[in-house]
Amino acid sequence: MTIHRLESHADFVRVHFHPGSGPRHADFHWFWLRHNSELDRHPLTHERIVCSSELPFELRPRDVRVTSDATALEVDWGDRADGQVSRYDSQWLQTHAYAMGRSPAPAPPSDVSALAVDPKRLDGPLGRAVLQRLQDTGAAVVRGFGNDTEALIEAFGREGLSVIETHFGRIEDLRTDNTTNLHTDQLGYTDSAVQLHTDQPFLERPPRYQLLHCQRPAEVGGENSVVDGLAAALHLADVDSHAFDLLRTVPVTFHRKQRDFERVLTAPLLDFAAPGGFRIRYSYFTLAPHRVPFAEMEAWYRAYNRFAKLVRDEHHQYRFRLGEGDLLVYDNWRMLHARTAFSGARWLRGVYFDAE
Ligand SMILES: [Fe+2]
Repeated sequence: MTIHRLESHADFVRVHFHPGSGPRHADFHWFWLRHNSELDRHPLTHERIVCSSELPFELRPRDVRVTSDATALEVDWGDRADGQVSRYDSQWLQTHAYAMGRSPAPAPPSDVSALAVDPKRLDGPLGRAVLQRLQDTGAAVVRGFGNDTEALIEAFGREGLSVIETHFGRIEDLRTDNTTNLHTDQLGYTDSAVQLHTDQPFLERPPRYQLLHCQRPAEVGGENSVVDGLAAALHLADVDSHAFDLLRTVPVTFHRKQRDFERVLTAPLLDFAAPGGFRIRYSYFTLAPHRVPFAEMEAWYRAYNRFAKLVRDEHHQYRFRLGEGDLLVYDNWRMLHARTAFSGARWLRGVYFDAE
C-alpha cells in the first residue's frame, strides 16, 4: 500500500493511503514522528540513543513530502547539522498507526458572515431569525436596525424571550460616564479591554442571552469578539482528553464582590450536565483562588491554559465592530465574548433575556 497524499496541520500530519479497504487515512503527531524516527540511532546496535525528553515538544518540520515512488513519508526537521531527514515507510506507518480514520472536532469557527442576520432580507420576523441564528451558531449580528432598544425587546418578547433584570437593572447603559447604575465598579464600564468571558458565572442560572445594542461606537477601538465555547470544548476533548476531563469535572469558584453586591458559586468550567444543556462558565476577573490538592494543581492550570490559548487565538474568534444602530445577541451559556480597549464616548445598551 502506498501513500496517496499528505495534509499538514499545526500539530500533526494526516497521511492518506491508497488503495485500501476501511479507513484510508491516519493522523500522526509531529512529536511522535520525531521521537520514532530512524535518526538518532547507534550506528552498530541501531538502538535509539535519544530520549523524547531531549527533543523539543513543539518541533515542527521545515518540509514534509511523499517519496517519488509513493512508498514513504519524508520529514525534514530543519534541526540537523548533517541535513538528514526522517523517512517512514508506508507499511511501517500503517502498522504503528494509533489514529486510523480519525475525524477531528474542528476548532471554533471565525467566519463572521455566519452570524449575520439581514433585516432587509427576511421571510419572517426579525426576532425569530435572530433566535434561529442563536440556536445554530450561538450569536447573531444585525446591522442598521436603528437605536430603538425597546422595539428589540418587543421583537424578542414575541418569540418568547423575557427580559431578565439583574443587579445592573433592566437595561444597562455601558458607557464610561454612566451615573444611573450603582454597580459600575467593573471593567465593562471602563474603556479598558475586556478579555474573553461569560457573564455572571457566579449565578446558579446565568442569564441565557445578552443583547448588546450599539447606540454610539467608539472613536478608536471597541471591537467585539465572540467565541464558540461549545466548539472549543469539543475540540479540546478531541486533542487533549485529560485537559477536557479536568475542566469538565473539577469545580472552580466564581466570586463577584462589588460595592453593594456579592455572590459566590462553585461549578465546573465546562458543564455538560447543567439543566437546559451545555453551559460554560469562564471569567478571569471573577475566578476565585483555585483550591485542589497540591498534586493536582499543575495539571489543572495546564488544562485551563490550554483551553484559554485555544479560545484566545484570533483564528478561532468571530471579530467585528458594531456601528450605530447595530446589535449583537449571543448565547451566554455557549459563547465567550470580549471587547478591545477604546477611546471616545462609546455607548452600548445591554439587556439580558431568558426563554423562561
Ligand atoms: Fe460581559
